[in-house]
Amino acid sequence: MIQSSLTEPYRILCVVGARPNFMKMAPIMAAMSALEPKIEVKLVHTGQHYDVAMNHQYFEALGIPSPDINLEVGSSSHAVQTADVMRRFEPALDEVKPTAVLVVGDVNSTIACALVATKKGIPVIHVEAGLRSFDRAMPEEINRVLTDQISNLLFTTEESGRDNLLREGIADHRIHFVGNVMIDTLRHNLARAVPISTIVADAGRQDFLALDKGYAILTLHRPSNVDDPKILRSLLETAATISKRTPLIFPLHPRTRATIERFGLAHLLATDQILLLPPMGYLEMLGLMKDARVVLTDSGGIQEETTALGVPCITLRNNTERPITVDEGTNTVAGQDPARILAIYDEVMQGHGKAGRIPRFWDGKAAERIAASVLTWFKKGCQSQ
Ligand code: UD1
Repeated sequence: MIQSSLTEPYRILCVVGARPNFMKMAPIMAAMSALEPKIEVKLVHTGQHYDVAMNHQYFEALGIPSPDINLEVGSSSHAVQTADVMRRFEPALDEVKPTAVLVVGDVNSTIACALVATKKGIPVIHVEAGLRSFDRAMPEEINRVLTDQISNLLFTTEESGRDNLLREGIADHRIHFVGNVMIDTLRHNLARAVPISTIVADAGRQDFLALDKGYAILTLHRPSNVDDPKILRSLLETAATISKRTPLIFPLHPRTRATIERFGLAHLLATDQILLLPPMGYLEMLGLMKDARVVLTDSGGIQEETTALGVPCITLRNNTERPITVDEGTNTVAGQDPARILAIYDEVMQGHGKAGRIPRFWDGKAAERIAASVLTWFKKGCQSQ
Protein backbone atom coordinates (compact mmCIF):
# COMPACT_ATOMS: atom_id res chain seq x y z
CA MET A 1 0.00 0.00 0.00
CA ILE A 2 1.45 3.42 -0.91
CA GLN A 3 1.55 6.16 1.67
CA SER A 4 -0.11 9.47 0.91
CA SER A 5 1.41 12.66 2.31
CA LEU A 6 -0.68 13.72 5.30
CA THR A 7 1.58 16.61 6.14
CA GLU A 8 2.37 19.72 4.14
CA PRO A 9 2.83 20.18 1.26
CA TYR A 10 -0.59 18.69 0.62
CA ARG A 11 -1.15 17.27 -2.82
CA ILE A 12 -4.49 16.53 -4.43
CA LEU A 13 -5.01 14.44 -7.52
CA CYS A 14 -8.08 15.60 -9.46
CA VAL A 15 -9.75 13.28 -11.96
CA VAL A 16 -11.64 14.19 -15.12
CA GLY A 17 -12.81 11.83 -17.82
CA ALA A 18 -15.91 12.95 -19.65
CA ARG A 19 -17.43 16.20 -20.86
CA PRO A 20 -19.59 16.95 -17.80
CA ASN A 21 -16.53 16.69 -15.54
CA PHE A 22 -14.61 19.54 -17.13
CA MET A 23 -16.85 22.45 -16.11
CA LYS A 24 -17.05 21.06 -12.57
CA MET A 25 -13.30 20.71 -12.15
CA ALA A 26 -12.27 24.13 -13.52
CA PRO A 27 -13.37 26.21 -10.47
CA ILE A 28 -12.22 23.55 -7.99
CA MET A 29 -8.67 23.57 -9.36
CA ALA A 30 -8.60 27.36 -9.38
CA ALA A 31 -9.83 27.57 -5.77
CA MET A 32 -7.38 24.89 -4.57
CA SER A 33 -4.44 26.67 -6.20
CA ALA A 34 -5.40 29.96 -4.52
CA LEU A 35 -5.21 28.51 -0.98
CA GLU A 36 -2.60 29.29 1.63
CA PRO A 37 -0.87 27.04 2.59
CA LYS A 38 -0.83 25.75 -0.95
CA ILE A 39 -2.49 22.57 -1.98
CA GLU A 40 -0.52 21.22 -4.90
CA VAL A 41 -2.99 20.23 -7.61
CA LYS A 42 -2.35 17.50 -10.18
CA LEU A 43 -4.80 16.60 -12.92
CA VAL A 44 -5.35 13.22 -14.48
CA HIS A 45 -7.53 12.84 -17.60
CA THR A 46 -8.76 9.30 -18.14
CA GLY A 47 -9.54 9.93 -21.83
CA GLN A 48 -13.11 8.58 -21.56
CA HIS A 49 -14.02 11.46 -23.89
CA TYR A 50 -11.40 12.27 -26.50
CA ASP A 51 -12.96 14.02 -29.54
CA VAL A 52 -11.91 17.66 -29.90
CA ALA A 53 -15.56 18.72 -29.63
CA MET A 54 -16.13 16.67 -26.46
CA ASN A 55 -12.81 17.46 -24.86
CA HIS A 56 -10.05 19.90 -25.94
CA GLN A 57 -12.60 22.59 -26.78
CA TYR A 58 -13.65 22.59 -23.10
CA PHE A 59 -10.14 22.76 -21.72
CA GLU A 60 -9.41 25.79 -23.87
CA ALA A 61 -12.65 27.63 -23.18
CA LEU A 62 -12.48 27.04 -19.43
CA GLY A 63 -8.75 27.67 -19.05
CA ILE A 64 -8.17 24.25 -17.46
CA PRO A 65 -4.45 23.44 -17.31
CA SER A 66 -3.30 20.55 -19.50
CA PRO A 67 -3.56 17.26 -17.63
CA ASP A 68 -0.39 16.11 -15.90
CA ILE A 69 -1.29 12.53 -16.77
CA ASN A 70 -3.37 11.18 -19.65
CA LEU A 71 -4.71 7.63 -19.42
CA GLU A 72 -6.17 7.60 -22.96
CA VAL A 73 -8.73 4.86 -22.34
CA GLY A 74 -11.25 5.83 -25.06
CA SER A 75 -14.63 4.19 -25.68
CA SER A 76 -15.63 0.58 -25.04
CA SER A 77 -18.16 -1.40 -23.02
CA HIS A 78 -18.77 -0.30 -19.44
CA ALA A 79 -16.74 -3.18 -18.07
CA VAL A 80 -13.77 -2.64 -20.35
CA GLN A 81 -13.81 1.14 -20.00
CA THR A 82 -14.02 1.00 -16.20
CA ALA A 83 -11.36 -1.72 -15.99
CA ASP A 84 -9.01 0.16 -18.33
CA VAL A 85 -9.29 3.32 -16.22
CA MET A 86 -8.56 1.31 -13.07
CA ARG A 87 -5.53 -0.46 -14.52
CA ARG A 88 -4.04 2.75 -15.87
CA PHE A 89 -4.91 4.91 -12.85
CA GLU A 90 -3.04 2.72 -10.35
CA PRO A 91 0.48 3.59 -11.59
CA ALA A 92 -0.54 7.25 -11.76
CA LEU A 93 -1.39 7.12 -8.05
CA ASP A 94 1.91 5.44 -7.29
CA GLU A 95 3.72 8.20 -9.13
CA VAL A 96 1.87 11.21 -7.67
CA LYS A 97 1.35 9.92 -4.08
CA PRO A 98 -1.41 12.42 -3.36
CA THR A 99 -2.85 13.31 0.04
CA ALA A 100 -6.29 12.61 -1.49
CA VAL A 101 -8.00 11.93 -4.81
CA LEU A 102 -10.84 14.22 -5.85
CA VAL A 103 -13.54 12.95 -8.22
CA VAL A 104 -16.61 14.75 -9.56
CA GLY A 105 -20.00 13.62 -10.84
CA ASP A 106 -21.08 10.14 -11.83
CA VAL A 107 -19.32 8.93 -14.97
CA ASN A 108 -17.43 5.64 -15.27
CA SER A 109 -14.11 7.42 -14.63
CA THR A 110 -15.48 8.68 -11.29
CA ILE A 111 -16.14 5.24 -9.78
CA ALA A 112 -13.09 3.65 -11.41
CA CYS A 113 -10.60 6.11 -9.88
CA ALA A 114 -12.41 6.28 -6.52
CA LEU A 115 -12.22 2.49 -6.24
CA VAL A 116 -8.52 2.29 -7.05
CA ALA A 117 -7.68 5.09 -4.60
CA THR A 118 -9.65 3.74 -1.68
CA LYS A 119 -8.17 0.24 -2.08
CA LYS A 120 -4.71 1.79 -1.91
CA GLY A 121 -5.56 3.65 1.30
CA ILE A 122 -5.79 7.08 -0.36
CA PRO A 123 -8.77 9.14 0.90
CA VAL A 124 -11.41 10.00 -1.70
CA ILE A 125 -13.28 13.30 -2.00
CA HIS A 126 -16.51 13.24 -4.03
CA VAL A 127 -17.94 16.47 -5.39
CA GLU A 128 -21.62 16.31 -6.37
CA ALA A 129 -22.33 13.52 -3.90
CA GLY A 130 -25.73 12.20 -2.85
CA LEU A 131 -27.75 12.80 -6.03
CA ARG A 132 -30.13 9.90 -6.65
CA SER A 133 -32.53 9.13 -9.50
CA PHE A 134 -33.51 5.85 -7.76
CA ASP A 135 -33.25 4.24 -11.18
CA ARG A 136 -30.64 1.50 -11.09
CA ALA A 137 -31.00 0.93 -14.84
CA MET A 138 -29.06 4.17 -15.26
CA PRO A 139 -25.31 3.49 -15.33
CA GLU A 140 -24.69 6.80 -13.56
CA GLU A 141 -26.88 5.79 -10.61
CA ILE A 142 -24.66 2.79 -9.93
CA ASN A 143 -21.60 5.02 -10.19
CA ARG A 144 -23.14 7.52 -7.73
CA VAL A 145 -24.15 5.00 -5.07
CA LEU A 146 -20.83 3.16 -5.14
CA THR A 147 -18.63 6.25 -5.27
CA ASP A 148 -20.42 7.75 -2.27
CA GLN A 149 -20.03 4.54 -0.27
CA ILE A 150 -16.24 4.63 -0.61
CA SER A 151 -15.71 8.39 -0.33
CA ASN A 152 -14.29 9.95 2.83
CA LEU A 153 -15.45 13.51 2.25
CA LEU A 154 -18.68 14.20 0.38
CA PHE A 155 -19.75 17.58 -1.01
CA THR A 156 -23.39 18.05 -1.98
CA THR A 157 -25.07 20.51 -4.35
CA GLU A 158 -28.55 20.39 -2.80
CA GLU A 159 -30.04 19.30 0.52
CA SER A 160 -31.64 16.15 -0.95
CA GLY A 161 -28.07 14.82 -1.22
CA ARG A 162 -27.61 14.73 2.56
CA ASP A 163 -30.94 12.91 3.10
CA ASN A 164 -30.00 10.29 0.51
CA LEU A 165 -26.53 9.77 1.97
CA LEU A 166 -27.78 9.50 5.56
CA ARG A 167 -30.32 6.90 4.41
CA GLU A 168 -27.45 4.90 2.91
CA GLY A 169 -25.53 4.96 6.17
CA ILE A 170 -22.97 7.67 5.41
CA ALA A 171 -21.93 9.51 8.59
CA ASP A 172 -23.31 13.04 8.82
CA HIS A 173 -19.94 14.62 9.66
CA ARG A 174 -18.52 13.51 6.31
CA ILE A 175 -21.22 15.38 4.34
CA HIS A 176 -20.86 19.06 3.49
CA PHE A 177 -23.49 21.08 1.64
CA VAL A 178 -21.47 23.55 -0.41
CA GLY A 179 -23.56 24.35 -3.50
CA ASN A 180 -22.95 23.76 -7.15
CA VAL A 181 -19.54 24.08 -8.80
CA MET A 182 -21.11 23.78 -12.24
CA ILE A 183 -22.95 27.02 -11.49
CA ASP A 184 -19.67 28.62 -10.37
CA THR A 185 -18.44 28.01 -13.91
CA LEU A 186 -21.66 29.25 -15.47
CA ARG A 187 -21.57 32.53 -13.55
CA HIS A 188 -17.89 33.02 -14.25
CA ASN A 189 -18.37 32.59 -18.01
CA LEU A 190 -21.82 34.01 -18.73
CA ALA A 191 -20.50 37.30 -20.10
CA ARG A 192 -18.29 35.33 -22.53
CA ALA A 193 -21.12 33.18 -23.90
CA VAL A 194 -21.12 32.99 -27.70
CA PRO A 195 -24.23 34.77 -29.06
CA ILE A 196 -26.83 32.73 -30.91
CA SER A 197 -26.41 35.02 -33.94
CA THR A 198 -22.77 33.91 -34.25
CA ILE A 199 -23.67 30.24 -33.92
CA VAL A 200 -26.34 30.28 -36.65
CA ALA A 201 -24.12 32.42 -38.89
CA ASP A 202 -21.21 29.96 -38.47
CA ALA A 203 -23.61 27.18 -39.48
CA GLY A 204 -24.55 29.18 -42.60
CA ARG A 205 -28.14 29.52 -41.36
CA GLN A 206 -28.65 33.27 -40.75
CA ASP A 207 -32.20 32.65 -41.96
CA PHE A 208 -32.89 30.36 -39.00
CA LEU A 209 -34.10 33.04 -36.64
CA ALA A 210 -35.66 35.27 -39.30
CA LEU A 211 -39.27 34.66 -38.25
CA ASP A 212 -38.56 35.98 -34.78
CA LYS A 213 -40.27 33.07 -33.05
CA GLY A 214 -37.30 32.49 -30.79
CA TYR A 215 -35.94 28.97 -30.70
CA ALA A 216 -35.94 25.76 -28.69
CA ILE A 217 -32.95 23.56 -27.87
CA LEU A 218 -32.88 19.78 -27.78
CA THR A 219 -30.14 17.55 -26.39
CA LEU A 220 -30.33 13.75 -26.15
CA HIS A 221 -27.66 11.25 -25.20
CA ARG A 222 -28.96 8.89 -22.48
CA PRO A 223 -28.84 5.25 -23.57
CA SER A 224 -32.48 4.90 -22.35
CA ASN A 225 -33.51 7.49 -24.97
CA VAL A 226 -31.16 6.95 -27.87
CA ASP A 227 -30.31 3.23 -27.87
CA ASP A 228 -33.91 2.01 -28.38
CA PRO A 229 -35.15 2.63 -31.94
CA LYS A 230 -38.83 2.97 -30.94
CA ILE A 231 -38.16 5.49 -28.19
CA LEU A 232 -35.68 7.44 -30.30
CA ARG A 233 -38.12 7.57 -33.23
CA SER A 234 -40.91 8.82 -30.97
CA LEU A 235 -38.69 11.53 -29.43
CA LEU A 236 -37.49 12.70 -32.86
CA GLU A 237 -41.08 12.82 -34.16
CA THR A 238 -42.04 14.91 -31.14
CA ALA A 239 -39.08 17.19 -31.83
CA ALA A 240 -40.22 17.57 -35.45
CA THR A 241 -43.74 18.54 -34.25
CA ILE A 242 -42.27 21.16 -31.92
CA SER A 243 -40.05 22.52 -34.69
CA LYS A 244 -43.14 23.41 -36.76
CA ARG A 245 -44.04 25.90 -34.02
CA THR A 246 -40.61 26.90 -32.70
CA PRO A 247 -37.37 26.50 -34.68
CA LEU A 248 -35.32 23.82 -32.97
CA ILE A 249 -31.56 23.62 -32.50
CA PHE A 250 -30.23 20.11 -31.87
CA PRO A 251 -26.50 19.67 -31.08
CA LEU A 252 -25.80 15.98 -31.61
CA HIS A 253 -23.81 13.89 -29.12
CA PRO A 254 -21.66 11.32 -31.00
CA ARG A 255 -23.65 8.43 -29.49
CA THR A 256 -26.92 9.98 -30.71
CA ARG A 257 -25.61 10.78 -34.17
CA ALA A 258 -24.49 7.16 -34.50
CA THR A 259 -27.83 5.65 -33.42
CA ILE A 260 -29.88 8.03 -35.62
CA GLU A 261 -27.81 6.81 -38.57
CA ARG A 262 -27.90 3.16 -37.54
CA PHE A 263 -31.71 3.13 -37.12
CA GLY A 264 -32.26 5.10 -40.37
CA LEU A 265 -34.08 7.98 -38.63
CA ALA A 266 -32.26 10.99 -40.13
CA HIS A 267 -35.19 11.79 -42.44
CA LEU A 268 -37.31 12.72 -39.39
CA LEU A 269 -35.02 15.69 -38.83
CA ALA A 270 -34.75 16.78 -42.45
CA THR A 271 -36.58 20.10 -42.21
CA ASP A 272 -35.42 23.71 -42.40
CA GLN A 273 -36.93 24.26 -38.97
CA ILE A 274 -34.38 21.96 -37.32
CA LEU A 275 -30.75 22.99 -37.14
CA LEU A 276 -28.46 20.04 -36.46
CA LEU A 277 -25.11 21.00 -34.98
CA PRO A 278 -22.02 19.09 -33.81
CA PRO A 279 -21.42 18.88 -30.04
CA MET A 280 -21.11 22.47 -28.86
CA GLY A 281 -18.25 23.98 -26.89
CA TYR A 282 -19.01 25.29 -23.41
CA LEU A 283 -19.37 28.96 -24.37
CA GLU A 284 -21.48 28.08 -27.42
CA MET A 285 -23.85 25.91 -25.37
CA LEU A 286 -24.15 28.63 -22.75
CA GLY A 287 -25.02 31.16 -25.48
CA LEU A 288 -27.61 28.80 -26.94
CA MET A 289 -29.27 28.06 -23.60
CA LYS A 290 -29.35 31.56 -22.23
CA ASP A 291 -31.58 32.97 -24.97
CA ALA A 292 -33.69 29.87 -25.67
CA ARG A 293 -37.44 29.92 -25.09
CA VAL A 294 -37.28 26.36 -23.85
CA VAL A 295 -34.71 23.57 -23.51
CA LEU A 296 -35.66 19.91 -23.94
CA THR A 297 -33.01 17.57 -22.59
CA ASP A 298 -32.06 14.30 -20.93
CA SER A 299 -28.84 15.76 -19.50
CA GLY A 300 -28.40 16.21 -15.76
CA GLY A 301 -26.18 19.27 -15.93
CA ILE A 302 -28.47 21.12 -18.32
CA GLN A 303 -31.36 20.77 -15.87
CA GLU A 304 -29.22 22.70 -13.39
CA GLU A 305 -27.86 25.24 -15.86
CA THR A 306 -31.35 26.16 -17.12
CA THR A 307 -32.49 26.64 -13.52
CA ALA A 308 -29.56 28.97 -12.93
CA LEU A 309 -30.36 30.85 -16.17
CA GLY A 310 -34.13 31.02 -15.47
CA VAL A 311 -34.89 29.26 -18.76
CA PRO A 312 -37.73 26.67 -18.83
CA CYS A 313 -36.46 23.08 -19.05
CA ILE A 314 -38.42 19.98 -20.09
CA THR A 315 -36.63 16.84 -18.97
CA LEU A 316 -37.10 13.88 -21.31
CA ARG A 317 -36.68 11.26 -18.61
CA ASN A 318 -38.97 9.62 -16.07
CA ASN A 319 -36.99 10.86 -13.10
CA THR A 320 -34.35 13.33 -12.03
CA GLU A 321 -31.54 12.98 -9.52
CA ARG A 322 -31.67 16.78 -9.15
CA PRO A 323 -35.08 17.38 -7.52
CA ILE A 324 -34.25 20.95 -6.55
CA THR A 325 -34.44 21.94 -10.23
CA VAL A 326 -38.10 20.86 -10.12
CA ASP A 327 -38.98 22.06 -6.60
CA GLU A 328 -37.29 25.46 -6.87
CA GLY A 329 -36.06 25.79 -10.45
CA THR A 330 -37.50 25.87 -13.95
CA ASN A 331 -37.48 22.14 -14.64
CA THR A 332 -40.44 19.85 -15.40
CA VAL A 333 -39.88 16.09 -15.68
CA ALA A 334 -41.88 15.05 -18.75
CA GLY A 335 -40.78 11.47 -19.46
CA GLN A 336 -40.90 10.09 -23.00
CA ASP A 337 -44.64 10.27 -23.79
CA PRO A 338 -45.19 12.63 -26.78
CA ALA A 339 -48.60 13.87 -25.54
CA ARG A 340 -47.17 14.85 -22.16
CA ILE A 341 -44.07 16.47 -23.68
CA LEU A 342 -46.21 18.53 -26.08
CA ALA A 343 -48.65 19.54 -23.31
CA ILE A 344 -45.79 20.86 -21.16
CA TYR A 345 -44.22 22.55 -24.19
CA ASP A 346 -47.57 24.30 -24.91
CA GLU A 347 -47.82 25.49 -21.31
CA VAL A 348 -44.31 26.90 -21.44
CA MET A 349 -44.90 28.64 -24.76
CA GLN A 350 -48.11 30.20 -23.45
CA GLY A 351 -46.03 31.77 -20.71
CA HIS A 352 -47.14 29.36 -17.98
CA GLY A 353 -43.69 27.79 -17.54
CA LYS A 354 -42.07 27.87 -14.11
CA ALA A 355 -40.37 31.11 -13.14
CA GLY A 356 -38.13 29.34 -10.61
CA ARG A 357 -35.63 30.75 -8.16
CA ILE A 358 -31.92 30.20 -7.67
CA PRO A 359 -31.29 27.39 -5.16
CA ARG A 360 -29.28 28.06 -2.02
CA PHE A 361 -25.50 28.22 -2.50
CA TRP A 362 -25.73 28.28 -6.30
CA ASP A 363 -23.92 31.56 -5.90
CA GLY A 364 -20.60 31.08 -7.68
CA LYS A 365 -18.71 30.27 -4.45
CA ALA A 366 -19.12 26.50 -4.14
CA ALA A 367 -15.51 25.77 -5.15
CA GLU A 368 -14.18 28.22 -2.55
CA ARG A 369 -16.21 26.41 0.13
CA ILE A 370 -14.85 23.08 -1.05
CA ALA A 371 -11.23 24.25 -1.06
CA ALA A 372 -11.52 25.71 2.46
CA SER A 373 -13.15 22.56 3.76
CA VAL A 374 -10.55 20.28 2.16
CA LEU A 375 -7.71 22.30 3.67
CA THR A 376 -9.23 22.05 7.16
CA TRP A 377 -9.70 18.33 6.65
CA PHE A 378 -6.09 17.88 5.50
CA LYS A 379 -4.87 19.76 8.57
CA LYS A 380 -6.81 17.31 10.74
CA GLY A 381 -5.08 14.39 9.02
CA CYS A 382 -8.11 13.67 6.82
CA GLN A 383 -10.35 13.07 9.82
CA SER A 384 -13.77 14.76 9.84
CA GLN A 385 -15.12 15.88 13.21
C1 UD1 B 1 -20.87 9.65 -20.62
C2 UD1 B 1 -21.37 9.42 -19.19
C3 UD1 B 1 -22.66 10.20 -18.97
C4 UD1 B 1 -22.51 11.65 -19.36
C5 UD1 B 1 -22.01 11.72 -20.80
C6 UD1 B 1 -21.81 13.12 -21.29
C7 UD1 B 1 -20.90 7.22 -18.22
C8 UD1 B 1 -21.50 5.94 -17.82
N1 UD1 B 1 -21.67 8.03 -18.95
O1 UD1 B 1 -21.83 9.08 -21.50
O2 UD1 B 1 -23.00 10.13 -17.60
O3 UD1 B 1 -23.74 12.30 -19.22
O4 UD1 B 1 -20.75 11.04 -20.85
O5 UD1 B 1 -21.45 13.11 -22.65
O6 UD1 B 1 -19.78 7.49 -17.86
N2 UD1 B 1 -17.84 9.01 -28.26
C9 UD1 B 1 -17.17 9.67 -29.26
N3 UD1 B 1 -16.23 10.60 -28.89
C10 UD1 B 1 -15.95 10.89 -27.60
C11 UD1 B 1 -16.63 10.19 -26.59
C12 UD1 B 1 -17.57 9.26 -26.94
O7 UD1 B 1 -17.40 9.46 -30.42
O8 UD1 B 1 -15.09 11.74 -27.34
C13 UD1 B 1 -18.88 8.04 -28.63
C14 UD1 B 1 -18.38 6.62 -28.76
O9 UD1 B 1 -19.08 5.99 -29.78
C15 UD1 B 1 -18.80 6.01 -27.44
C16 UD1 B 1 -20.09 6.75 -27.13
O10 UD1 B 1 -19.90 8.06 -27.66
O11 UD1 B 1 -18.96 4.64 -27.50
C17 UD1 B 1 -20.43 6.81 -25.69
O12 UD1 B 1 -19.35 7.35 -24.94
P1 UD1 B 1 -19.19 6.98 -23.38
O13 UD1 B 1 -18.06 7.72 -22.78
O14 UD1 B 1 -19.21 5.51 -23.20
O15 UD1 B 1 -20.55 7.47 -22.74
P2 UD1 B 1 -21.45 8.76 -23.01
O16 UD1 B 1 -22.69 8.32 -23.67
O17 UD1 B 1 -20.69 9.89 -23.62
